[in-house]
Amino acid sequence: NKPTVYVTRRIPSAGLEQLERACTVEVWPEKTPPSKDHFVERLSALSADGLVCLLTDDVDAEVMDASPDLRVISTYSVGYDHVDLDAAAARDIAVGHTPGVLTDTTADFAWSLLATCARRTVEGQAYVRDGEWETWQPTLLTGQDIHGSTLGLVGLGNIGTGVAKRAAGFEMNVLYSDVERHERTEEELAAAGVDITYVDQDDVFERSDFVSLHVPLLESTRGLVGEAELRRMKDDAVLINTSRGPVVDTDALETALERDWIERAGLDVTDPEPLPADHSILEYAPEKLVVTPHLASASVQTRDKMAEMAAANALAGVRGEPLPNSALDDAS
Ligand code: GLV
Ligand code: GLV
Repeated sequence: NKPTVYVTRRIPSAGLEQLERACTVEVWPEKTPPSKDHFVERLSALSADGLVCLLTDDVDAEVMDASPDLRVISTYSVGYDHVDLDAAAARDIAVGHTPGVLTDTTADFAWSLLATCARRTVEGQAYVRDGEWETWQPTLLTGQDIHGSTLGLVGLGNIGTGVAKRAAGFEMNVLYSDVERHERTEEELAAAGVDITYVDQDDVFERSDFVSLHVPLLESTRGLVGEAELRRMKDDAVLINTSRGPVVDTDALETALERDWIERAGLDVTDPEPLPADHSILEYAPEKLVVTPHLASASVQTRDKMAEMAAANALAGVRGEPLPNSALDDAS
C-alpha cells in the first residue's frame, strides 16, 4: 500500500516525479493557493501520510489534525514561519525544509536588488520606455557608489554570510548584528578578504549605507525595522529586504519614504504579501522603491534542487525515517 502525499502546488517535476514513483500523489493544480478549507478537506479525504506545502500555506494544528495518518510536512522553502512547529512536534509530525541550496541564489538576488537601488536601473528603464531619453546628461539619474561603502547586515546566518562574502569584491566595510556573535564565520569571511565587524543593531542602522535584512520571521523579528530604525538610518541609505515581509513595518517604511528619512528601499518580500497593485506604498515606485514578487531563490537550478529536497524530506517522512533536512532540528 503506497503512502499518499498531498502537494499544494505544482513544484518542478524533478521533485514531483520522485514522489510519484513511490507514492500516490495529489497536486493542487492552480497558480494561487488552495483555500485552507479545501486542503484540509483533501488531506482528510486522502488520509494523507505526507503534505508538501509552500510558504503561502498556513499550516497550523487544524491542518495537522485533518488526516490521522499525517507523518510529515515538507515545505518547499527554507523559511518555515508558516508552519506551527510546536503543534507538529506535539503530534510527532516531522517538518522538512530546504536550507543550503538556495543560500547563494538568494545572496545573489539581495545583491541584484542592492545594485538596482543604488544605481537606479529600474528608473532608467522607465525613462527610456517613456521616451524621455533625448541626450546624455551630466547628472541624469545619479545614484550611490556601492564600492567602498558600508554594508550593514541584520543577521549573519547562511544567507547573510553569502551576502557578506560578495562584499569583498566591492571593497566594502561590513557591519553586522545578530542575537549572538559568530566568530568562526567572521574568521572565514576575513580570510576571504571581507572586512567585517560585529556591532549593536542600532549601529548597523546608524552607520550603514546599505542595510540588508537576513533574519527569519520570529516574534522577536516581527516589525524589527520600525520608525526608530528608519529614523536612525542615514538619509541617503538604502534598505534591502529579502527575508520576510513582516520584518519591516510597512506603514513606517511608507512614512520614511515620504519624509526622506532614507533614500530608497528594495523589497523582495512585503507585508501584506502579495502586495496589491493599488497599495499606497507603490506611489513611491520606482524612484524610491523597487519591489519584486518574492523571487530571491528563483533560479531554474535552485528551484529544481528545492523540489528534489522537498521530495526527499517527504519520502523519508512517510517511511518514518529521519528527514535529510529537518526544520525541527534546525530550529532548536
Ligand atoms: C523563500 O523565501 C524560502 O523561504 O525558501
Ligand atoms: C538560511 O538558510 C539562513 O540561515 O540564512
